[in-house]
Amino acid sequence: MLELQSGVSRFLDGLDTTTWGINGAFLGPAVRLRKGDRARMQVVNRLPETTTLHWHGMKLPGPMDGGPHQEIAPGETWMAEFDIVQGASMNWFHPHKEGVTGRHVQMGLAGLLLIEDEVSDALNLPSAWGVDDIPLILQDRRFNADGSFDYSLAMMEAMRGFQGDHYRVNGTLDAGVALPPKEVRLRILNGSNAREYDLAFSDGRSFRQIATDGGLTENAVALTRLRLTPGERAEILVDLRNDAGEMLYLLNRADADARLLTLDVQTSGGSSETVADVLTSLTHLDPAGATTRSFVFGMMRGRFTINGKSMDMNRIDLSVPRGRVEIWEVVNRMDMLHNFHVHGTHFEILDRNGNASLVEDWERGYKDTVRLGPGETVRLLLSFEHYTTTADAPYMFHCHILEHEDRGMMGQFTVA
Ligand code: C2O
Ligand code: CU
Ligand code: CU
Repeated sequence: MLELQSGVSRFLDGLDTTTWGINGAFLGPAVRLRKGDRARMQVVNRLPETTTLHWHGMKLPGPMDGGPHQEIAPGETWMAEFDIVQGASMNWFHPHKEGVTGRHVQMGLAGLLLIEDEVSDALNLPSAWGVDDIPLILQDRRFNADGSFDYSLAMMEAMRGFQGDHYRVNGTLDAGVALPPKEVRLRILNGSNAREYDLAFSDGRSFRQIATDGGLTENAVALTRLRLTPGERAEILVDLRNDAGEMLYLLNRADADARLLTLDVQTSGGSSETVADVLTSLTHLDPAGATTRSFVFGMMRGRFTINGKSMDMNRIDLSVPRGRVEIWEVVNRMDMLHNFHVHGTHFEILDRNGNASLVEDWERGYKDTVRLGPGETVRLLLSFEHYTTTADAPYMFHCHILEHEDRGMMGQFTVA
């Protein structure tokens, strides 16, 4: 059971903050499932407002998606039941109520949904939860003088999205984690409303990425930096075998190297084992003969638009034939950062501005959210294989900068 509830948290000295959480005062649990399981999620709304709970990254039928149409009124319970058909991956859940998603996430509603399968079992990945397998939910907040969250959007923020002045990792300010001197796994979610992270370690060391939004990559990818826009995830391995007794920081290069997390490497509990580079094989769709659709981002009369239209719950924007391979060309005509998220499936990024080499190393694999820089165009290859949906339970496509989504940068589609 997942209980959406209001509570009180203490982030600042002597000041209480009213927060929302799932099965607790703030944030939510990490729900663990296996491929082949049937998930039965009983979601109870004990909040004073109607909301929804969306399973971001999950392949499931429209009525179970938890999008804007699956509202849960105060006091009500929503049952979501679906089969886990996808492989090992880190997904997450958050509200998706039309127009107020940004505020509901900011209040604290978000949790992780982790899937394992035979492939991830066989890889010998660090998997001692909280010991060498660490989830990192990256967020930012701002506080009012009385300790409450400040979600009043200044003029700039109404445009580019909310930016807090305090970072919080897993709900903690100035977060730190004690880690053994071995190879450790960090499962990172950009759970911020609008902030972009450009992650690197304080000593510039390289690390290996093993998973994107939709799960394991084919091979571990050596990186020294990794950029995540809101909603994107990545799993990385960090080799701490030679760092016993040392301190290391995870930084946000997109914000003057701000420190997000202190890694405090212990002197015991080490191991010399490392994970091999070859991880899995992925199925790639064939772009030859694919149908192309365009999604052009813009603005009109103070609302954000896709193809000239703002979100309308009563309008279905597209109907996609089930199983057909499509190329979705997403065009950002604005001088502003956006991203693009699709419900109900994964995609692979074909190219950016027509150039396959502009797809970053950390973007190769199954994705459900992609960065769309100012003036950029990305082409995505996708297909909806698993389920069809009806007009009263469509899937969404949208910018995952929540203040943009809430101001119209979203559309709806069915798979028929
Ligand atoms: Cu993470 Cu449509 O949302
Ligand atoms: Cu989603
Ligand atoms: Cu946007």
